[in-house]
Amino acid sequence: MFLAQDKFGRPLRDLRISVTDRCNFRCPFCMPAKTNGEEYHFLPRAEILTFEEIVRLTRILVDLGVSKIRITGGEPLLRSQIEVLVGYLANIKGIEDLALTTNGYLLAQKARALKDAGLGRVTVSLHSLDDDVFANMNGRGYSTESVLEGLRVAAEVGLSPIKINIVVQRGVNGHTIVDLARFFRRLGHVARFIEYMDVGNLNGWNQDQVVSADEIVKTISAELPLEPIERTHNSDVALRFKYKDGGGEIGIIASVTKPFCGDCARLRLSAEGKLYTCLFASEGHDIKGVLRAGATDNEIKEILTGLWSSRTDRYSEERAALMANETMPRKVEMYQLGG
Ligand code: GTP
Ligand code: 5AD
Ligand code: SF4
Ligand code: SF4
Repeated sequence: MFLAQDKFGRPLRDLRISVTDRCNFRCPFCMPAKTNGEEYHFLPRAEILTFEEIVRLTRILVDLGVSKIRITGGEPLLRSQIEVLVGYLANIKGIEDLALTTNGYLLAQKARALKDAGLGRVTVSLHSLDDDVFANMNGRGYSTESVLEGLRVAAEVGLSPIKINIVVQRGVNGHTIVDLARFFRRLGHVARFIEYMDVGNLNGWNQDQVVSADEIVKTISAELPLEPIERTHNSDVALRFKYKDGGGEIGIIASVTKPFCGDCARLRLSAEGKLYTCLFASEGHDIKGVLRAGATDNEIKEILTGLWSSRTDRYSEERAALMANETMPRKVEMYQLGG
């Protein structure tokens, strides 16, 4: 087995697979309703990788060192028969962690089938417990009810440890973070507070809307004292803190104020079959064409190794300099990669 390393010596460890670019939410920080309305054209079926193509590529990537897989979207539970794909992936030897990130809206219906198929755990996005704030943040006016029910079923069937993704935006949900911490601590889930990022080209990102990791920790700690703990793995994105009274932990994803490119071991596959070596990349590398042209496993392996070994991405560490440059290239959209 050849283990690929990029130009900065970073290994290839994680694969994030986007299975659809569609979503039943319209979060303004990802897929605003005004740019992605009813008439917006998502990818047609023939353009999307089949389960067989995804599985073949995954097997090859596992041979090259990948041991952690995350299924994302858009909203991955919208992909028809997603549990069948989960079943195929769960059977690949060498995958140590198989997880899925979802907005939770359809999770109550799907959790059992996903667990039975071999999914390890889920991460569910829920940005506020306040129905008005949440309705605004999902862009569809939905209340938290279905997401909370999804979480209840996911816990019941054992899709754990469950993590909760909370994108924190000043003036939007910043004032609700202590409630979230308290609520998920009681449920035994890991709340992860994410600094609002400048992903894609649609959200009109502005540094003033970012609540920094330091501020998040200070705010929560004032009510529920916290102390830092070690990351499980260098390439994990979240900083970890535990409650001083022993009642669980939280995570902070500080891509803006404390970038973590130095240990970034993630490769992303879009639903349309492009590989991206960074969440903020402009260009993907077409692999669907290679698969559909009849390439052998060895030929694909060579292409993937070449791609990873020439990788130099470190967008978050270069953000400030790039922003000062008026000709910043257009980035891939968040819903094409699923984070
Ligand atoms: P765990 O394995 O459970 O730690 O999952 P994860 O944090 O890798 O996955 P998840 O889909 O829950 O992502 C959480 C947040 O981190 C999302 O906002 C992602 O966009 C962000 N994120 C994940 N990977 C990267 C990365 O490589 N760079 C940046 N800048 N953000 C990332
Ligand atoms: N900044 C930070 N996180 C984001 N997500 C979507 N858009 C953004 C953004 N602009 C989150 C989703 C999901 C995770 C994969 O990424 O809400 O929880
Ligand atoms: Fe959908 Fe997730 Fe994007 Fe929200 S953040 S629009 S739930 S893909
Ligand atoms: Fe990795 Fe790019 Fe995120 Fe840096 S900005 S951690 S290189 S995905």
